[in-house]
Amino acid sequence: MHIGFGRALVEAWRELQRLSRLSKRRVKTTTAADLPGNAEASSAGAKTLPQKYLISDEVFAAEQKRIFSKQWVCVGHHSDIARAGDYLLAQIAGESVLVVRDQLGQARAFYNTCRHRGTRLCEESKGHFRQTIQCFYHVWIYGLDGQLLGAPHMEECEGFDKAAYPLNEAHIGIWEGFIFLNLCEKPVPLETVFAPLAGKFNHWNLPKLRSAKRIEYDVRANWKLIFENYSECYHCPLVHPALSKITPYDSAENDLCEGPFLGGFMPITSGNSLTMSGNACALPVGEIKAEDHKRVFYYSIFPNMLLSMHPDYVMVHQIWPQSPGRVLIHCDWFFHPEAFGRPDFHPDDAIEFWDMTNKQDWHVCELSQQGIASRSYQPGPFGPRESIPAAWDREYLRHMS
Ligand code: FES
Ligand SMILES: [Fe+2]
Repeated sequence: MHIGFGRALVEAWRELQRLSRLSKRRVKTTTAADLPGNAEASSAGAKTLPQKYLISDEVFAAEQKRIFSKQWVCVGHHSDIARAGDYLLAQIAGESVLVVRDQLGQARAFYNTCRHRGTRLCEESKGHFRQTIQCFYHVWIYGLDGQLLGAPHMEECEGFDKAAYPLNEAHIGIWEGFIFLNLCEKPVPLETVFAPLAGKFNHWNLPKLRSAKRIEYDVRANWKLIFENYSECYHCPLVHPALSKITPYDSAENDLCEGPFLGGFMPITSGNSLTMSGNACALPVGEIKAEDHKRVFYYSIFPNMLLSMHPDYVMVHQIWPQSPGRVLIHCDWFFHPEAFGRPDFHPDDAIEFWDMTNKQDWHVCELSQQGIASRSYQPGPFGPRESIPAAWDREYLRHMS
């Protein structure tokens, strides 16, 4: 083990111990009496992360190893690869992984590495294979199930057995229609990890939804600042004037307050949805309960997914750290499949609203990153409306310790 990396782990463990001691002095902040799983969260005594967690290459490398190489990470929605042969590429912890739907309709994940001389099989971020996956270099050909079907001239090699050279597989699982990959050799099963959320989001119909739009953002900030920022609306009055008029900044009701899944809802007090017009922009996404037609739900799914559920659409961010000071964010807007093509379908009303709001968030995260990089930076205190960012940091440090 690199000596600096070892020291970073010891310090992460100490920081976690300190935050755990503080979190035992809990104060009740927000609850949602009408939601299951009420919980209490605390920010009492909690401080923002020490500088090294936000600017250090060593910590970044440790995160890739201890979090992104071990946890289930969201790479898309099963509708992204609807037909046999459809694929997408995911870049996780320095690995390129090909996610493809095979001839039997199963989603499969293969390392994007030819079994001959290791060449990348695929360069496009998404696309369609007709019947097979072909390596461009010496034309080894694989089935959609990863089996090696053809290898020119290799039959002249004594003892060569095609069955011994399938593409290497990664673990894949589907939760609520979203595709998750895990690079660990023996991961905790996806169903076990997501058991606490079983049935919680049924009303939103997530497996059936379809994305109308994806925008990719390149943000000059540490990936953890994106989560911290998402997890509070303390910043909303000045950063998001339009959002604050629809959902008052101090109205958050959190029902998941500790662990890998965090969040709750905010009431929609003006208009019917979070859109530029204030009107609903599509059919309801599912069989939404009456009171939830006036709520927007925000949840973070550790380590790389943000799930924002509105009555008429669902927005999903995938968070992809690139370096200590840079993150790529893929943002999709999902709608009911029957909403598409109807005269009352106005997806741009929602997309424009959140593209504006996203950019406001990214800008303030970039400003935070710049300030945190200063020699003068010291961890600052989280306030009572920042219990969820504090809880997110605790979960992060648990993985780093
Ligand atoms: S490296 Fe793929 S066929 Fe040779
Ligand atoms: Fe924000």
